[in-house]
Amino acid sequence: MPPDTDTAFVPAGYFSQSLKNRDPELYAALKGERDRQNEQIELIASENLVSRASLEALGSIMVNKTVEGYPGRRYYGGADYADEAEALAIDRAKRLFGCTYANVQPHSGSQANLAVFLALLQPGDTVLSMALPSGGHLSHGAGPNISGKWFNVVSYGVDETTGLIDYDAVADLARTHRPKLIICGGSAYPRAIDFARFREISDSVGAFMLADIAHFAGLVAGGVHPDPLPHADVVTATTYKNLRGVRGGLILGNDQDLGKKLNSAVFPGVQGSVILNAVAAKAVCLGEALQPDFRVYARQVLENARALAGTLMDRGVSVVTGGTDTPIVLIDLRPQGLTGAETSDALELAGLTCNKNAVPGDTQPPTVTSGLRLGVSAGTTRGFAADEFRAIGGWIADIVDGLVQGDVSARQHSVRDNTRALCRRFPIYDRDI
Ligand SMILES: Cc1ncc(COP(=O)(O)O)c(C=O)c1O
Repeated sequence: MPPDTDTAFVPAGYFSQSLKNRDPELYAALKGERDRQNEQIELIASENLVSRASLEALGSIMVNKTVEGYPGRRYYGGADYADEAEALAIDRAKRLFGCTYANVQPHSGSQANLAVFLALLQPGDTVLSMALPSGGHLSHGAGPNISGKWFNVVSYGVDETTGLIDYDAVADLARTHRPKLIICGGSAYPRAIDFARFREISDSVGAFMLADIAHFAGLVAGGVHPDPLPHADVVTATTYKNLRGVRGGLILGNDQDLGKKLNSAVFPGVQGSVILNAVAAKAVCLGEALQPDFRVYARQVLENARALAGTLMDRGVSVVTGGTDTPIVLIDLRPQGLTGAETSDALELAGLTCNKNAVPGDTQPPTVTSGLRLGVSAGTTRGFAADEFRAIGGWIADIVDGLVQGDVSARQHSVRDNTRALCRRFPIYDRDI
């Protein structure tokens, strides 16, 4: 059958018409987003810019295919190529992280973590994890999340003066509460975690250890961050932060028996059919991360994050923990008497996108906060090196100073000119949308 027919129930252009022509309204929104990404400096730590190849895989024909189960063991026919794509993603994940088990199906990082809870715990079991305001994640046991509602969650924080995990305090909590699962890794903890110490604490009470490396998986893969896999029973990650791929989650490990439980927990435990186009696109980013140039990218991410942190501190902006070992730089605005909400809004008007974030000991509500979380993964993908991030640090400090001194709008104009000029020097996609 030709792509376009006159058949009444196959609309003209169904197989051939571009989005631009078929749905101009939605196209306008996508074009607006493309222009925004092109013209703003993206500092949201959970974002990155995927390759054109990843975009193609995500928008590919795999979107049409439904499968359940795992390669070679599907509940639907016609799965040969689906199997090929998923097996590629699994094989690449194992090679990239040097492990023997990988599940590439989790629709998101939260789904990956929920599957780990289902595989390892019974409702009501005790979990020890980092508190949300100290940099933990919702899916690690926060009150409104299923993990917090169905499990007995005990939280550890960070030392309010250093911003660092107090490992002795974690060990004390473990001894007191005897958790079945201990989680390390978070959304806003900028320093390397002592995975060996977490293993020791977990062993001391017979707990499983989960390392959630969502925010620094690319640095682990790139060899510039400590590797949790020799220590943790299970590692979860997202593919869309500094791993530089499309949205989704991963589960990794080295124990085949545990792997079987984790596979059953993902499907049929917490998910149904596979989002195969996302799995295909994960295969692309994992393949890209296996190339030697990804190690250069990972090294540059770390150098850029440290350059940004250094410039901010030189300009009198307080950086939690005094630096970073990850793509994240966490700013404490309490010395300036500013909130995260007003500062992130002011930065956005100057062309710098980031998010407000609680800092250790924060007394502001989560919708306001006293801090900002900045990430360098997307800017680095665009080509920004340390000089560009030093300039960006200076512009952020200019806006902070402007808010303190009451002349922020004049500064926003000049910073906006600078951010636009920088973005023009480092253009992104040349495709239509
Ligand atoms: C540590 C951590 N784990 C898990 C997730 C969850 O990812 P998702 O939003 O894909 O569910 C995030 C998200 O940013 C995260 O920071």
